[in-house]
Amino acid sequence: MLTHHPAVDPQRFRSVLGHFPSGVAAITSLDTQGRPVGMAVSSFTSVSLDPPLVAFLPGKTSSTFPVIAERGTFCVNVLAAGQEAVCHALAVPGGDKFADLGWQPGPHGNPVLDGVVAWIGCTIETMHDAGDHRIVVGRVEDLATGTTAEPLLFFRGRYPHLAAA
Ligand SMILES: Cc1cc2nc3c(=O)[nH]c(=O)nc-3n(C[C@H](O)[C@H](O)[C@H](O)COP(=O)(O)O)c2cc1C
Repeated sequence: MLTHHPAVDPQRFRSVLGHFPSGVAAITSLDTQGRPVGMAVSSFTSVSLDPPLVAFLPGKTSSTFPVIAERGTFCVNVLAAGQEAVCHALAVPGGDKFADLGWQPGPHGNPVLDGVVAWIGCTIETMHDAGDHRIVVGRVEDLATGTTAEPLLFFRGRYPHLAAA
């Protein structure tokens, strides 16, 4: 019989939802002075083919997302296996997150990070309220694949490697 816990406490929510495997994307943009900003997200997904839409879910406490929202454009960088340090740099708030990161200007001038699996340049189409997060839908304007390396995976709070096919 399934063990059922009617009260969803935050720790249980995180633990159980962490069993859904995902990749990791770096959402990048520029601030009003042209400096790069970014955040690591596991909540990236493809949404629609026609029109081409994608989405990610920033938390309302994120200090980076308001900067991205003001610019109105962003680039999704799909991280590669071995880019845990890039993920960490973009997940820790404050400071110069890009101090040790290599990148080039991509669509709208937003950063395309070195060594990523793919990048997707977007304009914010709509934003939806969703509890302590927002659902941000982006219209895809340009996109390309990058390295053929494996992607960075996120599962149960860890970064496992793909089993050899
Ligand atoms: C693997 C991983 C996945 C994450 N996924 C999300 C996410 O989907 N949404 C989110 O708001 N923050 C996510 N974070 C946290 C953000 O990267 C970051 O910590 C947060 O935006 C705070 O930084 P900021 O204040 O500069 O925005 C994730 C962090 C890691 C390490």
